[in-house]
Amino acid sequence: MKALILVGGFGTRLRPLTLSMPKPLVDFANKPMILHQVEALKAVGVTEVVLAINYQPEVMLNFLQEFEEKLDLKITCSQETEPLGTAGPLALARDKLIDGSGEPFFVLNSDVISEYPLKEMIEFHKGHGGEASIMVTKVDEPSKYGVVVMEEATGKVEKFVEKPQRFVGNKINAGIYLLNPSVIDRIELRPTSIEKEVFPKIAAENKLYAMVLPGFWMDIGQPKDYITGLRLYLDSLRRKSSPKLAAGSHIIGNVLVDESAVIGDGCLIGPDVAIGPGCIIESGVRLSHCTIMRGVRIKKHACISNSIIGWHSTVGRWARVENMTILGEDVHLVDEVYSNGGIVLPHKEIKTSILKPDIFM
Ligand code: GDD
Ligand code: MG
Repeated sequence: MKALILVGGFGTRLRPLTLSMPKPLVDFANKPMILHQVEALKAVGVTEVVLAINYQPEVMLNFLQEFEEKLDLKITCSQETEPLGTAGPLALARDKLIDGSGEPFFVLNSDVISEYPLKEMIEFHKGHGGEASIMVTKVDEPSKYGVVVMEEATGKVEKFVEKPQRFVGNKINAGIYLLNPSVIDRIELRPTSIEKEVFPKIAAENKLYAMVLPGFWMDIGQPKDYITGLRLYLDSLRRKSSPKLAAGSHIIGNVLVDESAVIGDGCLIGPDVAIGPGCIIESGVRLSHCTIMRGVRIKKHACISNSIIGWHSTVGRWARVENMTILGEDVHLVDEVYSNGGIVLPHKEIKTSILKPDIFM
């Protein structure tokens, strides 16, 4: 089986992290976002993943080469010369996706995180005999998404409305599809939207089916949702009694600590924290609801909550960092500084407190 991951877009909503790295390579729970998806695809027998990309393909491919070998899976790029939207890339990658086997293929948005119930999706797709399957999930604020109205009993989609202006329903497109090769025949090679131009037509022919996604789901393309997404992801590890979760008297709730990270005496860590490879957390540090990326040093008695600390940054002694502070790569906060929602671009030193949410370039 094959799969295509839509990895276009500049990830502006996740700056300053995406100034150092394309969004799909930004770490989530100690692993680049895209790896969560590639591993899930591999687990259900996908043998080739096509990355539909419109900038910096080298960065992406260099990075993924290592995983091609580790996972024994082919990863290729299909590069657009202009952004082709969410459907155009399928037409562009036509020859890579269609191999004459007639098998359906997966299409994934690159910025969503879930338990990827892809095996169940294959069964669902086989069962209904339609042309396309999509995963849906319930949300409180459906207007930011593609809304799906479906027949509960069969899953047949009656209506697909992208970013509706008024309330249509609260089940939304989760950005995970399984499509028959014939869907590509419906798509022209031009910038075009699968949500606005393709799905409504398939639905009108009664050939689009939706399956309600079991478990959690989150679009993690914005800092607040990223932090919520980490909580949901760690909760799901807990439900599976995952051995990856840290344990000990200094740990509260669900915490991931890379095995190469070092944690000093008297720290209190959690809930909902991820500490990446090579991090040094000095003694007496307090961390909650935050992500500490690869190579970061948190000095003695610092206190961090609801924040993301980018790669190779340092947070000084007695510093207090909170309220959606996002430090880009290689940022240094000196001792005793306070950050209330500071967004700091890469390679900066912060010597005075940030008293209200603001951007520092
Ligand atoms: N290759 C390529 N080229 N990829 C693209 C392009 C493009 O021109 N434009 C967007 N993408 C990719 C994005 O990187 C992302 O992975 C995916 O297509 C969806 O684009 P977003 O910009 O993230 O869309 P959205 O979040 O507003 O809405 C989409 O996702 C929602 C779920 O998170 C839609 O699919 C909604 O229907 C859905 O509910
Ligand atoms: Mg998105």
